[in-house]
Amino acid sequence: MLKNIQATRVITISAALLCAAAVTIWTPGKQAMAQTASSDPAANNAAKMLLDGRQTFRFDTFGDEAFWGDGLKLHQAIEGARLGGVGPGVSPKTALSVGLKIDVDAVPADLASQLKDGAVNLDDPATTLALLKLNAVIGVTGFFNGSSNNLRSIGIQCAICHSTVDNSFSAPGIPPGNVGHRLDGWPNRDLNVGAIIALAPDLTPVTTVLGVDQATVLKVVNAWGPGKFDAELFLDGKGFRPDGKSAATLIPPAFGMAGVNLHTWTGWGSVTHWNAFVATLEMHGKGRFWDPRLNDAVQFPIAAKNGFGNLNPTLSPDDDRIMSKLAALHFYQLALPAPESPLKHESFTKAPERGDKLFSGKAKCNSCHVEPLWTEPGWNMHTAAEVCVDDFQANRAPDKRYRTAPLGGLFAHMKGGFYHDGRFATLNEVVDHYNSCMNLGLTGDEKNDLIAYLLTL
Ligand code: HEC
Ligand code: HEC
Repeated sequence: MLKNIQATRVITISAALLCAAAVTIWTPGKQAMAQTASSDPAANNAAKMLLDGRQTFRFDTFGDEAFWGDGLKLHQAIEGARLGGVGPGVSPKTALSVGLKIDVDAVPADLASQLKDGAVNLDDPATTLALLKLNAVIGVTGFFNGSSNNLRSIGIQCAICHSTVDNSFSAPGIPPGNVGHRLDGWPNRDLNVGAIIALAPDLTPVTTVLGVDQATVLKVVNAWGPGKFDAELFLDGKGFRPDGKSAATLIPPAFGMAGVNLHTWTGWGSVTHWNAFVATLEMHGKGRFWDPRLNDAVQFPIAAKNGFGNLNPTLSPDDDRIMSKLAALHFYQLALPAPESPLKHESFTKAPERGDKLFSGKAKCNSCHVEPLWTEPGWNMHTAAEVCVDDFQANRAPDKRYRTAPLGGLFAHMKGGFYHDGRFATLNEVVDHYNSCMNLGLTGDEKNDLIAYLLTL
């Protein structure tokens, strides 16, 4: 089905874009489309929702600067003592080393050419402040005192974890893949959230909720490593698995999600359920949240103690900074397509075609990763035993199962490995795992064909 899917995808996207933006270029259907944009309330609404949702995904902190800035005082760590904060400060070099990305479209032309000339000091926190002022650090917003260069606070957005940049810009001291055009929905597998939290001058907001001391928090977050975060830590307080490894999971892609029923590695709920969850309980934005499953004090002791199952019940709608944005955010998330693999059309061999047949034949992958959603139509959940792995992470979610991960755009998140915790470093390991778990009897050639196909998804 390789070619068919491709053709439909291109047509659907360009039609949506044309209609949505009501761009007037000549196409056979131009008139019909112009009419649609003006008189079809659904098309008009779609265009507005897309733009509103993108704005929220990229730029909205939901008021979470109260946590990341006012609480953790991360803005002071960024400034450094010399500029009025504390510690050595965060230079652009340090920022890039913890995986933060720079949006080249927010960098003015003169600054871009100075960067190319190596004329910008990448060791000076003042440069980081300038980039923040330009709104060029993806997923991070600096709040400044008036027009001064003094940071008052700092907040984060969805984009910090769920966006990265392409390879379009490189300069001395800036390797490709750090500064470029935004890629919304691509997981940032370089981002070291734990290292960023560890920079915080004041960890009290975290130690209070978890009921542990600062050293314990540092031990936990420093064990996460790049591309990972632990969304369940604030619910159950489990920093490590029984085998002693970090309990964090990989940041998953936030593209290719339309049609997929349950979301997150462990199928917590719909996209919009999780958006509300993350915006309140993880980012610490200001809003209501309702999920009585979190009142289970055995499974979620921290959440139950802190009343996360019914968060901010008396918050006035006027003071809720999240609720009114959920609809458009949901819409935008569903609109993000899985990116097309560069290998899709460059099949030098027949391997991907043979792999395609194996996928829905002998290798039985299609029994769970159903083409073209790459997950089940319906309740897309499995026990740990069904996929021959331990149930530690499954048991940290209400259904105690793993969700069949959608595979569209797989090539875009190879870094950090596969499965919820990246336990399989390569696709070879993934295929070997299924081969033994499900007694598939795949030959070496067949495994290679299957992998060649996976790389085209
Ligand atoms: C600090 C990093 C971080 C931030 C910020 C963040 N996420 Fe996530 N996101 C994750 C991780 C990690 C998971 C996996 C959670 C799990 O399975 O337990 C996830 C899962 C998801 C999923 C499920 C994807 C799938 O495969 O089904 C969606 C959708 C999502 N996030 C959207 C958002 C939105 C929208 C925002 C902003 C409101 C956001 N995230 C903010 C790290 C983050
Ligand atoms: C019984 C259902 C089932 C079958 C059959 C199955 N998978 Fe999976 N697959 C899953 C689940 C569940 C996950 C998520 C596991 C996790 O989160 O740890 C997954 C994850 C994956 C991932 C990792 C995705 C990511 O984002 O890290 C790949 C790759 C994959 N499967 C490929 C395959 C291939 C290839 C086959 C056939 C050989 C196959 N799967 C057969 C259920 C299945």
